[in-house]
Amino acid sequence: MLIKKPQDIPSSEITDEAVYQQRRKFMTSSIGLTAAATLMPLQNSVAAYGGKPLNFKKNSQFDTSEDKTSFGKITNYNNYYEFGTDKYSPAKNAQALTTDPWSVTIDGEVEKPGILHLEDILKQHTLEERIYRLRCVERWSMVIPWIGFPLADLIKKARPTSKAKYVKFETLNRPSEMNGLRRNVLDWPYVEGLRIDEAMNPLTILAVGLYGEVMPKQNGAPIRLVVPWKYGYKSIKSVVKISFTEKEPVSSWTKAAPNEYGFYSNVNPDVDHPRWSQRKERRIGDFLKRDTLLFNGYADQVASLYTGMDLKKHY
Ligand code: MTE
Repeated sequence: MLIKKPQDIPSSEITDEAVYQQRRKFMTSSIGLTAAATLMPLQNSVAAYGGKPLNFKKNSQFDTSEDKTSFGKITNYNNYYEFGTDKYSPAKNAQALTTDPWSVTIDGEVEKPGILHLEDILKQHTLEERIYRLRCVERWSMVIPWIGFPLADLIKKARPTSKAKYVKFETLNRPSEMNGLRRNVLDWPYVEGLRIDEAMNPLTILAVGLYGEVMPKQNGAPIRLVVPWKYGYKSIKSVVKISFTEKEPVSSWTKAAPNEYGFYSNVNPDVDHPRWSQRKERRIGDFLKRDTLLFNGYADQVASLYTGMDLKKHY
C-alpha cells in the first residue's frame, strides 16, 4: 500500500499470473478434498480444507449469487504486514503465530472493562456465516464466506459510557513470532478505529473463521474485524485490544500517510486515492475489471451513517 515497489501499486494488474499459479497449486491439492467432501453429510460444520471446523448458522440475509473466491486464493493472497509486505509471505510466515491461548483486552470508556479469553468469547456468541465482498484499497476484491458474530453484541456486553464516541482496535505486537515487525514500515502495533455507530452497525463483525473453519493464520487468526463497506485495511487482524475512546483514534495507515488514508476509508469510486483512481477493481481470479460500488455495494445499510457529511473531505 504505502511502500512504492514494483509489485505494490499495480498489484491488481499483475494478479492474474500469480492467481493462475496459486490456482494450479490449489487444484492439484483439492482433488482429494472434493472426493472426501462428497462423502460428508451436509451440515453446518464441514472440515473441507483441513482446519478445525466451527459450528455456525448460515445467515441468509448475507448470502450472495456472486461467485465466492476460492479458499486457495483467499489464503494465499494476503495483506498482513506483520508477516511481510508482499502478498505471498503471510501464508508462510504467519504459521509461526501462536493463537492459543488468546485474549482480548476491553478498556477505556466502558462500565465493564476486562480481559476476555477467546474460549469465553466463543461460548458467549452465536457464530454465523456471512458472505461479504472485501475491497482492498489496491483495487482488488474478493468474496469471502466469513464465520463470525456482530461486533455490536460484544460492545453491548462491555456497556460503553456516554463518553465512548469511537472504538480503537489493536493487533498483537509479538516480534518473536511476527517477522515483519522488524521492519518499521508502520508504527506497530497495527491500529484501526471506527466511530461507535459504525462499530455498532449490524454489518460490522468480528470474524473467527472462513469457509466453515477456524480463521487461517494469514487471514487474521484467531479473531479479526470485518467492515465490508470500508477499504480492506480497516478490517484489522489478530485483535488483542478494543478500547473505547472519546477522541478519534489515529490508525496506523493514517499516521503513515494522512493524505492517502483517512479515518473513514469508505469504499468510494468518486474519491480517488492520490496515486490512483478507485473507479474500477479486479475481482481476484477475473480477467476483466468491474466498476467499484459506493460503500462496496452496501449503501442501503450504511449510507445513512454519513448523512450530511462531505465524503470527499472525510475520506
Ligand atoms: N491487519 C493487520 N494487523 N495487518 C495488516 O497488514 N492488512 C489489511 C487488513 N488487516 C492488515 C490487516 C489490509 S490492507 C487488507 S486488504 C486486509 O487485511 C486483507 O485481509 P485478507 O488477507 O484476509 O484478505
